[in-house]
Amino acid sequence: MKLVVLLAAAVAAAAQQPTQRREQFRVIYEWRTIDFEWDSPVDRETYLNASRYVPQNVLISGINYYEDKIFLTLPRMLDGVPATLANIPAQQNDTTAPKLKPFPSWSDNTIGNCDALQFVQNIEIDSNGMIWVLDNGRVGTLTQNPSTKCPPSIVLIDLKTGENKIDRIPLPPDTVNPNTSYLNDLVVDSRDGGYAYITDNSAVDPGIVVFRLSDKKSWKLRDSKSMLASPDAALFRINGTTVNLPVNLDGIALGPQFLTEDGEVDRTVYYCPLASYHLYAINASVLRNDSIHARDELAVRANVVDLGTKPSQTDGMKMDSTGMLFFGLIGNSTIAEWNSTTDFRVNQRTIARDTNYIQWIDRFTFDNRGNIYVVVNRLYNFVKNQVSVDEVNYRILRSYTGMKSYIYGEDIKPTQTPSPQNVAASKTISASLLVLALAYLLA
Ligand SMILES: *[C@@H]1O[C@H](CO)[C@@H](O)[C@H](O)[C@H]1NC(C)=O
Ligand SMILES: *[C@@H]1O[C@H](CO)[C@@H](O)[C@H](O)[C@H]1NC(C)=O
Ligand SMILES: *[C@@H]1O[C@H](CO)[C@@H](O)[C@H](O)[C@H]1NC(C)=O
Ligand SMILES: *[C@@H]1O[C@H](CO)[C@@H](O)[C@H](O)[C@H]1NC(C)=O
Ligand SMILES: *[C@@H]1O[C@H](CO)[C@@H](O)[C@H](O)[C@H]1NC(C)=O
Ligand SMILES: *[C@@H]1O[C@H](CO)[C@@H](O)[C@H](O)[C@H]1NC(C)=O
Ligand SMILES: *[C@@H]1O[C@H](CO)[C@@H](O)[C@H](O)[C@H]1NC(C)=O
Ligand SMILES: *[C@@H]1O[C@H](CO)[C@@H](O)[C@H](O)[C@H]1NC(C)=O
Repeated sequence: MKLVVLLAAAVAAAAQQPTQRREQFRVIYEWRTIDFEWDSPVDRETYLNASRYVPQNVLISGINYYEDKIFLTLPRMLDGVPATLANIPAQQNDTTAPKLKPFPSWSDNTIGNCDALQFVQNIEIDSNGMIWVLDNGRVGTLTQNPSTKCPPSIVLIDLKTGENKIDRIPLPPDTVNPNTSYLNDLVVDSRDGGYAYITDNSAVDPGIVVFRLSDKKSWKLRDSKSMLASPDAALFRINGTTVNLPVNLDGIALGPQFLTEDGEVDRTVYYCPLASYHLYAINASVLRNDSIHARDELAVRANVVDLGTKPSQTDGMKMDSTGMLFFGLIGNSTIAEWNSTTDFRVNQRTIARDTNYIQWIDRFTFDNRGNIYVVVNRLYNFVKNQVSVDEVNYRILRSYTGMKSYIYGEDIKPTQTPSPQNVAASKTISASLLVLALAYLLA
């Protein structure tokens, strides 16, 4: 077993936290560059010769788990990325550089074919085995000439059938502009037929895009206060490198269902710009209101809560089914957690810190055995075009938490008892009906 034990889990304020210490994170896979399972050696050579495969241009970013497979996303920010979605086995004894298998197939990853995947930044897999893929449709986003190949879309792939057919749902260009949008991350809320809440960190028109599966409608909510990069947090210092990334809202997480005073079911959505020290929250009921976005920003802002600051910036984050949030602190080479039933300002806990192994935490996922996985990808080198193929650039770390993803959180039923407010509201309605009736009689 070539597992590298690496992190002395530094549990901050352990005295206040008599709960179990988390297991250390271990490296389960690591790569210098990403290679693939090719149909034949000649294919690989053909792709290499034509610069359709440039090993140092392939970065792993997103991660998800389904039935002993780890799904990885490979956003086509540079040229030479032959596939944008792929998987590897979740269990394997050898930690070094497993080859990635394009998913669903090589041909389903063909650039320029709008029945195929173009640019996948992140995915989510719901409890029915459906993959929700964010396909931006535009490739070469970090090159001089980004190219819009296909409309930005939600792509659904049903893993249960075994056929892995691609169902592409283009998003409307007035909501998600094909030339400027950047669909970054999503959470899936399974209620009422399924919704996705998506961060669009477009430099021109950032916001949270809501996609409702039942009628395939989508809309965007904007708030320049909580969804924009803040200039004082745009500089990242990590592993001796400094990089300026004034990137808008990015990480997103979804809390457990809860019952409101009115007996309705709601959930909290957490998000943060990449260039920010703040964590924000908004209730899902606000996002799901398909008329609020049409009003001015202030209608949205009135519902945004600033939960407080963190020591450093965060890229991806993930919540478990009990409401524990896991997130990276990039400038501190730290993985942190926060119990969302407590005050964010004083209850963030460091669960791992290591300057050699935790170099840019990108995304998290859970498996079905209580493990959490983290992708570490040295993004700062990638965006500066300084990837050294002689060093380990990408790692997947794993630790046991005993928990599962928010996707498997408990379903709560709304209570029917009308609250005093509802009673008051219906009284007002009947009163105004009465007035109308009187007006009619008097006319
Ligand atoms: C790739 O290029 C090399 C050098 O030019 C050449 O010898 C080889 O035949 C090419 N391979 C393929 C599959 O085109
Ligand atoms: C991995 O290692 C374990 C114990 O060392 C062994 O039992 C198992 O068969 C190995 N699995 C594979 C896929 O090689
Ligand atoms: C995107 O860019 C193309 C080419 O410049 C242009 O034709 C198209 O109208 C643009 N689309 C939108 C929605 O701005
Ligand atoms: C969400 O709604 C509940 C009441 O239903 C309220 O107590 C809470 O403050 C809201 N959260 C946010 C983030 O607005
Ligand atoms: C949706 O938002 C609009 C505009 O702010 C508001 O008038 C309406 O009451 C909201 N609907 C629900 C169901 O909350
Ligand atoms: C965390 O990183 C930030 C920079 O992102 C730095 O200012 C701060 O001092 C670090 N905090 C700790 C506890 O290391
Ligand atoms: C989170 O905090 C709540 C309230 O303090 C507590 O009941 C719960 O056990 C905590 N969750 C975990 C996983 O520690
Ligand atoms: C950067 O990371 C590498 C690999 O962990 C390490 O060898 C090197 O010392 C680090 N450089 C700095 C300046 O921290």
